[in-house]
Amino acid sequence: MSRRPASVKIVEVGPRDGLQNENQPLSPQVKAMFIDKLADAGVAYIEAGSFVNPKWVPQMASSEEVFATIARKPGVTYAALTPNIQGFERAMDAGASEVAVFAAASEAFSEKNINCSIEASLQRFAPLMEAANQQHIPVRGYLSCVLGCPYEGAVEPGQVADVAAKLIELGCYEVSLGDTIGIGTPATVGRMLETVEARIKLDQVAVHFHDTYGMAIANICTALDRGIAVVDSSVSGLGGCPYAEGASGNVATEDVVYLLDGFGIEHGLDLEKLIEAGAYINGALERRSGSRVAQAKSKVH
Ligand code: HMG
Ligand code: MG
Repeated sequence: MSRRPASVKIVEVGPRDGLQNENQPLSPQVKAMFIDKLADAGVAYIEAGSFVNPKWVPQMASSEEVFATIARKPGVTYAALTPNIQGFERAMDAGASEVAVFAAASEAFSEKNINCSIEASLQRFAPLMEAANQQHIPVRGYLSCVLGCPYEGAVEPGQVADVAAKLIELGCYEVSLGDTIGIGTPATVGRMLETVEARIKLDQVAVHFHDTYGMAIANICTALDRGIAVVDSSVSGLGGCPYAEGASGNVATEDVVYLLDGFGIEHGLDLEKLIEAGAYINGALERRSGSRVAQAKSKVH
């Protein structure tokens, strides 16, 4: 029986997960304008940047300036990705509303992405979690490669459930399960979520699908049917993954909104304004929209 929710929270990751992987450099002013346009389209949760080692991800080096430039809208969460206590302190100085840490379900990916084992990455978060707890800053957890790894291949659902449970034990209020290489299908998503549900409650789980094989929307349907009510997406399907060769962008927010509208699920976003925000950033990046819905609507009008 479907446990499909009545409303869904969309976590817009375009300004961070999307732009970190676009080669064209953008000024902090353009990034901030993009974020303001997303807020104007009704997006209530925006991952606005990351405070990681700028040598590793130069596209995010201007996150301080981006946070200083955005016109903050009341009620909107402006979140930041932070790998360690140094990143957390930078995020707090910049005025981030909350932060996210990230771990991988695959050892090889962990080494390539953050230069350490899964266990070491979890230990590295401990001081960050303590500081966040003291300052009452909510921490979200990302888990990458939940359906496959570019280096190791298949990833066991039990391993996903194990690391997801550890992130919750550490103090994350939610774990976002990422199909970083976009390899999953509704069948593998269903099996993975069933295993995860045996360890943690699905109301602490979000899904983060990439559309490499065109399965992201189908995979989101599977997650919705299981009652998951938080979906990560990126306007225009911005992004990919710098450490996962061939990975296409995140599922496009416009396509998720269209899907949710079809089910009559509340989301609070204005599709037309969202498409405009996408057109703005695509213009700056000189790229074509990765959203099928935005493409179809631009042909219709
Ligand atoms: P490290 O280089 O392995 O080693 O960094 P370190 O911790 O000893 O630091 C070395 C240098 O980095 C030092 O500077 C530190 O000060 C500096 P130096 O002495 O050489 O001049 N440093 C920092 N600088 C600024 N801000 C910081 C910071 N931390 C250290 N926060 C570290 C380890 C984890 C920091 C590094 O590997 C890193 O920043 N990695 C970033 C990786 C990243 O951002 N990946 C993309 C995000 S994950 C993702 O996209 C997947 C996800 O979206 C889900 C999905 O799509 O599926 C979440
Ligand atoms: Mg992603």
